[in-house]
Amino acid sequence: MHKYKNEVIELLAKECKDLTKEDIGELIEFPPSPDLGDLAFPCFFLAKIYRKNPKTIAEDLAGKISSPSFRKVESAGAYLNFFINSEEFTKDILEDLKEKKEGFGRVNPGQGKTIVLEYSSPNIAKPFHIGHIRTTVIGDSLKRIADFLGYKTIAINHLGDYGTQFGMMIEAYLRWGDQEVIEKNPIPELVKLYVRINEEAKDNPELLDNARNWFVKLENQDPKAVELWEWFREVSLEEFQRVYKLLDIHFDYYTGESFYSPMLKDTVDLMEEKGVLTDSQGARIVDFGDDLPPAIIVKKDGSSIYLTRDMATALYRKKEFDFYKSIYVVGSQQSLHFQQLKAILKKMGYDWEEDMVHVAFGMVALKDGTLSTRRGKVVYLEDVLNKAIDKVDEILLEREEDRGEKMDNRRDLAKMVGIGAVKFQELFNQRIKDYVFDWDQTLSFEGETGPYVQYTHARICSLLKKGDFKLEDPVDPKNLALDEEQQLLKKLSRFGDVAMDALEKYEPYFITRYITDLAKTFNKYYTHNQINTEDEDVKKARLLLSYGVKTILAQGLDLLGIQAPEKM
Ligand code: ARG
Repeated sequence: MHKYKNEVIELLAKECKDLTKEDIGELIEFPPSPDLGDLAFPCFFLAKIYRKNPKTIAEDLAGKISSPSFRKVESAGAYLNFFINSEEFTKDILEDLKEKKEGFGRVNPGQGKTIVLEYSSPNIAKPFHIGHIRTTVIGDSLKRIADFLGYKTIAINHLGDYGTQFGMMIEAYLRWGDQEVIEKNPIPELVKLYVRINEEAKDNPELLDNARNWFVKLENQDPKAVELWEWFREVSLEEFQRVYKLLDIHFDYYTGESFYSPMLKDTVDLMEEKGVLTDSQGARIVDFGDDLPPAIIVKKDGSSIYLTRDMATALYRKKEFDFYKSIYVVGSQQSLHFQQLKAILKKMGYDWEEDMVHVAFGMVALKDGTLSTRRGKVVYLEDVLNKAIDKVDEILLEREEDRGEKMDNRRDLAKMVGIGAVKFQELFNQRIKDYVFDWDQTLSFEGETGPYVQYTHARICSLLKKGDFKLEDPVDPKNLALDEEQQLLKKLSRFGDVAMDALEKYEPYFITRYITDLAKTFNKYYTHNQINTEDEDVKKARLLLSYGVKTILAQGLDLLGIQAPEKM
């Protein structure tokens, strides 16, 4: 569809000198129903410029524009509708598919540009809980989409491995901790210590003073403090790694907040130099006037805070990676924090703060009860993932019994489908919406789910095998003239655009919805039309179309971080 969109842009640019090609590109739409054409151009914007009725403008343009790629160009109300010449279109796509094979649909707008993506970033010595699924899976998908579009990507896990809470941890450990107990079950035991010190500090404020001291010591590289902190970090990271392995999610860097601690002094000096800091009762703060609440940068005792470290982080990333975009996939509760971060950089005169994007998201709750992260009621992400695998394994076992045939890789398949289902559910809605995690919905093999799309993919794989599909087999475009076939081809041709839109809006759900729709459309086609029919020529054409659908389903799943098994 890319080629046709570009052609429409060229055709319109010639007639509408007051619009840039970019403007036109942004205005072009893909109509929801075939009788409105394949591409459409709304004339409201031009109407404002020319102070004319949009309908008249559309009629005018329809009279002037023609091209062999389009069988007709027609006005309908304020819209100019373009109807693609199907035979040529079919021929184009089939050639493209044969040439690019598994790479079909790939576009490359990102060449030479670097996108830094920060996601997941759990806190050391704290549970890696179900709430973290959001940043982890959304971030990984955005990275995959950016890679697909030819950007160079840098994936960073900004571990929460620094801050006053580590002073609390050290104090608590030295009072009540037991190394052996912690090593057996690190995070839950560390959490217990943390909860306890918070409780006891209510009656005993001395604990807080000690904790603050420990953090100052940590900032000053005191060996005892550093040793304990490193140990907390290490045992926590081991647990996190287990979860990343299950999810098959990887990072280029695990540079957490502590990584930036040696840069804090220079960062604060630079802020002083640029004159953005003022005094407030012994602390150094940034005052934004009426725009935003003030932000503390250096506390009275000289220690840094979360925002100070994010300042150092932003400066470092710009210098190190010279990013085109720097993305922070972090919950919407931290919106103010990122607004302040960007506002400070702006005050300092760095216009690249505009390229820093806070990709926010809403909350996830479990269907049986809300999600609590306090005390013992934590739902660990690892447990959710393992439960998904076990539940799918049960379903597959039932299928084995029904079919009276054993699978040779049932457990691997259960993992692909179980983990895939959880990711798919996570990526199904607009990210800012809160959602409820529901087991039955997630794991269903029917409806709008991961297993459904995976199953469609596997079914096509077996169709191709059965029909002895060969990519080289010649196909006559005339054999793909049915409405349903044309609809499928048009959907296929839009994949690159969908990926670009997904990245532009930072919304992986565009891909999720697209592949769900593609799978549904294919299944409808398949129910009405036999693929492996008697007529060899028709069969070859249908197999090639099916191969195209399979390829894009696999590619789309891959952009969500989901595997596409060939047999299910
Ligand atoms: N560790 C933080 C948390 O769990 C998220 C880090 C977000 N990233 C950042 N650069 N501040 O809430």
